[in-house]
Amino acid sequence: MDGSGRNDLEAWWMPFTANRQFKAAPRMLARAEGMHYFTPDGRQVLDGVAGLWCVNAGHNRAPIVEAIRKQAGVLDYAPPFQMGHPLAFEAAAKLAALLPGDLNHVFFANSGSEAVDTALKMALAYHRARGEGTRTRFIGRERGYHGVGFGGISVGGISPNRKAFGTLLPGVDHLPHTHDIKRNAFSKGEPENGAELADELERLVALHDASNIAAVIVEPVAGSTGVLVPPKGYLQRLRTICDRHGILLIFDEVITGFGRLGAAFAADRFAVQPDLITLAKGLTNGTVPMAAVGVRDHVHAAITDVPGGIEFAHGYTYSGHPLAAAAALATLDLYAAEDLFQRAADLAAPWERAAHALRGLPHVIDVRNLGLVAGIELEPRAGQLGARAYDAFVRAFESGLLIRVTGDTIALSPPLIITPARIEELFGRLADVLKETA
Ligand SMILES: Cc1ncc(COP(=O)(O)O)c(C=O)c1O
Repeated sequence: MDGSGRNDLEAWWMPFTANRQFKAAPRMLARAEGMHYFTPDGRQVLDGVAGLWCVNAGHNRAPIVEAIRKQAGVLDYAPPFQMGHPLAFEAAAKLAALLPGDLNHVFFANSGSEAVDTALKMALAYHRARGEGTRTRFIGRERGYHGVGFGGISVGGISPNRKAFGTLLPGVDHLPHTHDIKRNAFSKGEPENGAELADELERLVALHDASNIAAVIVEPVAGSTGVLVPPKGYLQRLRTICDRHGILLIFDEVITGFGRLGAAFAADRFAVQPDLITLAKGLTNGTVPMAAVGVRDHVHAAITDVPGGIEFAHGYTYSGHPLAAAAALATLDLYAAEDLFQRAADLAAPWERAAHALRGLPHVIDVRNLGLVAGIELEPRAGQLGARAYDAFVRAFESGLLIRVTGDTIALSPPLIITPARIEELFGRLADVLKETA
């Protein structure tokens, strides 16, 4: 409480947080280093989730910290509208070189949500520029998470994120989600069953007509809904159907980008080329907010091939911010210098073994994994969706382990600098937590 009698945690209305519950028993982080957070009273907490799927190179890495410090004293801010600064161009070029195929153009935003809205607007602008202005519909997927902008919640498929917010964007339809615990429980890597769910896109095309559909947007691996790995062949089928009907395919790689799956991007991991790719989080190792949309040559060319003037009436005050650009450059260099994407690929097997060793523990009804991601789904308590996983989350934090829960699924996504010994430690501690969770 402060002098006025108010709890001094009151002012910050926290995002995606049970505010009253949190403020009654706060969980605070004061410092971080490598694989760990530290609480204000100095307790060490093993980070099993890379912050929020973003700190892929581990916390407080010196080259990134130094680059940000240095840049803050050189050019604090530069307007990105009709003006430029070298680092943003350098960061875009470095990112474009890393992106697969001809995703050669980069538009900067500040959050995954903004990147998603940007990509959706690009899809509309693309079709309109090509004389197909009737293509205005978007197809998302049930259980998809694409941030919290109106575009993102419209194409997203997580009902609590949508239900209070009215009619959303018109003209959006959804593919069915791919979660099929009956057929695929305890799959290691990509599940065997479910590629045919991509064919539902043909049904939606038949319903709406291709001439009205702009783009399909999916997370290659759905993260926020609780780690849904695509069935074998599913993403390839989506690509084929999009090609057949002139529909753009957007991969939302906000969490799968930057090595998470053991390749630079999920597009590389699955060998499926999207037309647009949305990125954030790992782009700056979570240090300074920055997001990006990667755009293929033909999409960029169609939108920008106009005589004079501003080609795409869109952008943010902080697009390509100097501190973010400096952080992105240092981050991409660090990923390369430490070969972290390959490291994630090398660790995927011990990670998978340790994750699936949880099978048989109380309430565990599924374990899913790919690269350095795992989802452990718990049986919900009757009539109390999410309560059991939330208990596990609190218990884990108290025991010195940060996990993330969504519904009754525990989602794990550690920094890629994790070692085999730490993988054992992480799952060993989680096993202890699960044994104690009623
Ligand atoms: C796939 C995906 N898209 C978009 C977002 C939104 O990103 P942000 O919270 O930076 O707006 C997230 C965030 O977790 C995400 O996982």
